[in-house]
Amino acid sequence: MKYKVTRSPIYDFAGQSYASSYPNLHKYPASMLPQIGIELFKELNIKSGIMLDPYCGSGSSFAVGIDRGIKDMYGFDINPLAVLISQAKFTKVDIETLLKTKQVLRSNIYEFIKDEKNLMNTKLPQFKNVGFWYSRDALLYLTILYYYISEIKDENIKRLFLVPFSETSRDCSYTRNSEFKLFRIKEEDILAFNPDVLGVYFQKLNKVLDNYTFYYYPKLQDSNVNISFKKFPKNDNFFDIVLTSPPYGDSRTTVAYGQFSHFGNEWMGVDARQIDNQLMGGKTVKENYKKGIISENINLIIKEDKKRALEVSSFFFDLEKSIIDIAKSVKIGGKIIYIVGNRTVKGVQLPTDQFIAEKFEENNFKHIITHERVISNKVMPSKNSPTNIKGSLQTTMINEYIVICEKWK
Ligand SMILES: C[S@@+](CC[C@H](N)C(=O)[O-])C[C@H]1O[C@@H](n2cnc3c(N)ncnc32)[C@H](O)[C@@H]1O
Repeated sequence: MKYKVTRSPIYDFAGQSYASSYPNLHKYPASMLPQIGIELFKELNIKSGIMLDPYCGSGSSFAVGIDRGIKDMYGFDINPLAVLISQAKFTKVDIETLLKTKQVLRSNIYEFIKDEKNLMNTKLPQFKNVGFWYSRDALLYLTILYYYISEIKDENIKRLFLVPFSETSRDCSYTRNSEFKLFRIKEEDILAFNPDVLGVYFQKLNKVLDNYTFYYYPKLQDSNVNISFKKFPKNDNFFDIVLTSPPYGDSRTTVAYGQFSHFGNEWMGVDARQIDNQLMGGKTVKENYKKGIISENINLIIKEDKKRALEVSSFFFDLEKSIIDIAKSVKIGGKIIYIVGNRTVKGVQLPTDQFIAEKFEENNFKHIITHERVISNKVMPSKNSPTNIKGSLQTTMINEYIVICEKWK
């Protein structure tokens, strides 16, 4: 092992969850524990500067920044739903207007549905496979809800109403809720599945608004969080600190962020089926990754399965490209903190932590330390079936690695 790894139980946070001080507004796969970042910032004495999270997901790193008094934060994620959740949590809105908007929304919707004719005349959306995923009733009430949410003029307030809508659109569909990927519930369960869409939505909305009002809003006083899914903020020598947890592998074989976010994105007009291909490792490549530390491991996978080796290579090509951009965007003296898992493919463990340290060192950084922590309750599958044989499960990750490097030139 080229870059030393130090076992640091202080970052385990056994038994703790994300929600203890920053409750979720929307479920999101593989979210990071803000407690880890808070502890790291204390250790490294980071109290100011401009922060970036280039794979921000539902925004745990901004919770860290806010806790530590960081005023300027930037985020990026290709998944528009992730950006919606993060923006909703970390944008300040007027609480009185927020509550008034809820009342108006409620009364508009109940006024509308009182008249049977309105229900009959509502035009249902036509996105792909809509009848496969929704009953006619669920679709009708989701359409009405979405219409009235879209009428909200203030974009910052509207996001706080779209977030529970996205969860409702998933929970009231025929997809199995226990999985990230889209699987339809059994045919015999479909008849018995008659969700009360408005009831589900308003219950979620109340919870989101409470959590926003009591946990996020009071902490948002003077920080500025800019998040985008369109453009990576590519400013040279701009950021002082990068805190992020990149994906562990491609979406198809690790966490399917795109599929998980399918319904929310689709309702918001995004072509949701394209997201997983755009995420890291989503494109097909024709050559294997042959440079440096990871090449040995990829060679072992080639011997087992050439196609899987190319999929793994695609991920490392993308990760390298992204590290080159991020390295340029950090100031001299700035630090990067990457929290990552080393996944196993075809029985071969991929030292992604070593790859990250190596790539940053090739781009004017110096490796400072890699901490090893034991994962306790990260919401992600800890096992997969590498052979696709039923019953043949293999643990893929039990540890996470916190890679810290500093830019020196
Ligand atoms: C481990 S999750 C981040 C979770 C986040 N820390 C949180 O607390 O929710 C990784 C994120 O990377 C995003 N992602 C994957 N490939 C990406 C890419 N090429 N550019 C930007 N974001 C990407 C995924 O959409 C996902 O949200």
